[in-house]
Amino acid sequence: MSVHTEDSRKVTTRRLIEMKQRGEKISMLTAYDYTMASIIDKAGIDAILVGDSASNVMAGNVTTLPITLDQMIYHGKSVFRAVKRALLVVDLPFGTYQGNSKIALESAIRIMKETHADCVKLEGGKEILESVNRILSAGIPIMGHLGLMPQSINKFGSYAVRAKEEEEAKKLIEDAHLLEDAGCFAIVIEKVPANLAGQIASELSIPIIGIGAGRYVDGQVLVMHDMLGLNKGFSPRFLRRYANLEENITQAVQQYVTDVKSSDFPNEQEQY
Ligand code: KIV
Repeated sequence: MSVHTEDSRKVTTRRLIEMKQRGEKISMLTAYDYTMASIIDKAGIDAILVGDSASNVMAGNVTTLPITLDQMIYHGKSVFRAVKRALLVVDLPFGTYQGNSKIALESAIRIMKETHADCVKLEGGKEILESVNRILSAGIPIMGHLGLMPQSINKFGSYAVRAKEEEEAKKLIEDAHLLEDAGCFAIVIEKVPANLAGQIASELSIPIIGIGAGRYVDGQVLVMHDMLGLNKGFSPRFLRRYANLEENITQAVQQYVTDVKSSDFPNEQEQY
């Protein structure tokens, strides 16, 4: 059964909060280009994240660290041209907001002006609070990102589940409250125990969107390439695959090669 929405109104940050208030789960996926963004927007997704995971899935880097602000803006602009309904979220990449809140604001303003995104997303809690406050004071909505934060992979040392120990769980809860109190409209929480994410979702009035954070949160986000089965090598426990495109594409390309080599393609009807 398909339960996609019939509501064609543009999704705003306010509407995301209202969805939480009435208990409607929020669906979010990543996209990095016009064609895929157009398909998932028409399919009824609530929010599209131009994630810095573009560094991995589009550019083939091992981490999200190398992607630049200019590259994020290129992806953001491409996705914006396709999106009619979904809320458009663009990640601030590594090195463009940590440490200096003036640079953070300049980076966020570039994203908003050049991509026409509805908001920005950035990773971290207390450590980046000054940047969060400065960006919010310019009227730019922020989606936070806590738990596993891929931009801090060199500090964490692995992509294992975060906040299993009490001390880290306590900090995560404090950071989530700090971001809400500062004025963030939603938070992504990545790869933490389900009960902990659920506790945060029930304590906060802004939506918690989980990835590998269980079922007790207000919405879910996945990297589109992962859920479409475009990279079979990546299969964490939290990932549900909805298609097997790597296999479909491989078969299609193999058939095309066979047809060209055997002069089957093009046939009489496929020429002028
Ligand atoms: O960049 C990204 O794709 C993300 C998701 C994992 C939430 O931040």
